[in-house]
Amino acid sequence: MPPALFLDRDGTIIEDRGHLRSPSQVAFFPQTIPALRMAQRAFKLFIVTHQPGVAEGVIGTDGVARVHASILARLAQHGIHIERVYYCPHRRSEGCRCIKPNPYHLFEAARQYGIDLRRSFVIGDHPHDVGLAMNAGATGIYVLTGHGEKHRHELPPDTIVASDIWEAAIRATESHTFSEKHAEIAGQISRAAALLKQGGVVVFPTETVYGLGANALDARAVAAIFEIKRRPRFDPLIVHVGSFAQLDAVVAELPTTARDLVESCWPGPLTVVLPKRDLVPDIVTAGLPTVAVRMPDHPMALALIREAGVPIAAPSANLFGRISPTTVQHVQEQLGDRVDMMLDGGSCRVGIESTIISFCGRQPALLRPGGTPIEVVEAVTGPLLRLEPTPAVPLAPGQLPHHYAPKTPLVLRSAAGEMPRGRRVGLLALRAPVAAQGYEVVELLSPTGDLREAAGNLFAALHRLDARGLDLIEAELAPETGLGRAINDRLCRAAGGTPQMTLGNG
Ligand code: TXA
Ligand code: MG
Repeated sequence: MPPALFLDRDGTIIEDRGHLRSPSQVAFFPQTIPALRMAQRAFKLFIVTHQPGVAEGVIGTDGVARVHASILARLAQHGIHIERVYYCPHRRSEGCRCIKPNPYHLFEAARQYGIDLRRSFVIGDHPHDVGLAMNAGATGIYVLTGHGEKHRHELPPDTIVASDIWEAAIRATESHTFSEKHAEIAGQISRAAALLKQGGVVVFPTETVYGLGANALDARAVAAIFEIKRRPRFDPLIVHVGSFAQLDAVVAELPTTARDLVESCWPGPLTVVLPKRDLVPDIVTAGLPTVAVRMPDHPMALALIREAGVPIAAPSANLFGRISPTTVQHVQEQLGDRVDMMLDGGSCRVGIESTIISFCGRQPALLRPGGTPIEVVEAVTGPLLRLEPTPAVPLAPGQLPHHYAPKTPLVLRSAAGEMPRGRRVGLLALRAPVAAQGYEVVELLSPTGDLREAAGNLFAALHRLDARGLDLIEAELAPETGLGRAINDRLCRAAGGTPQMTLGNG
């Protein structure tokens, strides 16, 4: 039985502007889209609202329906699906059974959609929303937007309070994800957060690859990352944030296009490069006046950043120039006991590093293809500048063509697919059917040629091939669309050749 998030409407997901009559009056909070996009992976989403204006004759049911249809359509444009909107049209004095905090609508959802209320949450900006949750056996999360601050003192003790819908969605997602082993994982995250605050270095999972993190505002702690990775000092790091407020704290300017892009893609595998504030130490940015920032889409990463209360600077948790780790075992092999702590979040879902877009020139520019397809970025930004890097003018410091490299020599497979002879050769195949004859071992990235699945398996497959002690790895290229570009970029680099884009990874 699936759990649900029951969202109050006014003051919670949209601004509270009294009785809304027309869709043009609807104003979403900027955090609503990213919050719901993240939350819907764990929960079915419902809106539960109170529209007393209907009984008061101020608004009609058709007006309410138009407003809701428009809210649902706008969320759908961002890939967010609301199962259903429930609303109570009565006045409190009517004593109806559907007014909050009566659990009527939640019981309806349980009956109609098979919702497990015990694992569900209500998010709202009024104590009635918290009461609604309690009366249905769910958990309430109180947000301080809308009326929130005004009624805060009326809340039952121990109510979860969040600054806005984004934080509320993180809290709900965290407790959902960790519910089975919650106490254990929460304890580990607290320990890791405490280590970060003390200047320690912690390995943590993200949706792309594992990161090697330190407090981004602590230059000494960040220096330790370079030592552990044996990474040249001149390669700048990505700063991982857990909220939009943290983004504003580290960047000096946020052009509208950049804001639109992060609102539509975060949390997720997208990094933006922007002018930095002085508070970000030079060692993080390798002395550049710009800083790379991203919000990872992983509940453990978000919980860690939130508990630490600081942004986390982190490169991928591999030795410099080696294959990026997508499991904690990969990190173990390369970094062993050189870090203060490792958080195990299983395999990384996306499996390939973030796409990096710079907003420091006149036109947004692609610095590294990655987990967010370029098409998705360009739908928001318009055409990206794709700089052709030259040895004299690197796109970013630390750029090296030979990267993401296994120890075993790797070559790109010729289209002819000639059979290997006399040597122990491994094949990295993109899709079935595979002409596997003559190969010692074959790694198939996706039987159906699904590029997402292939990206997710790429690094783990390279790790396995590399561990076989082969003479050679032959790799097939992917089609140059969507995530195929990011896969080919990594393969070209592993082959030591010149990829389409030449931005180094550490
Ligand atoms: O998915 C990811 O992005 C992973 C996870 C851990 O978040 N991180 C990652 O970090 O791939 P790293 O350090 O391996 O790669 C960061 C890239 C480097 O190529 C670096 O040159 C570029 O980001 N970069 C960082 N700051 C920059 C800046 N200010 N201007 C241009 N490029 C920058
Ligand atoms: Mg409200």
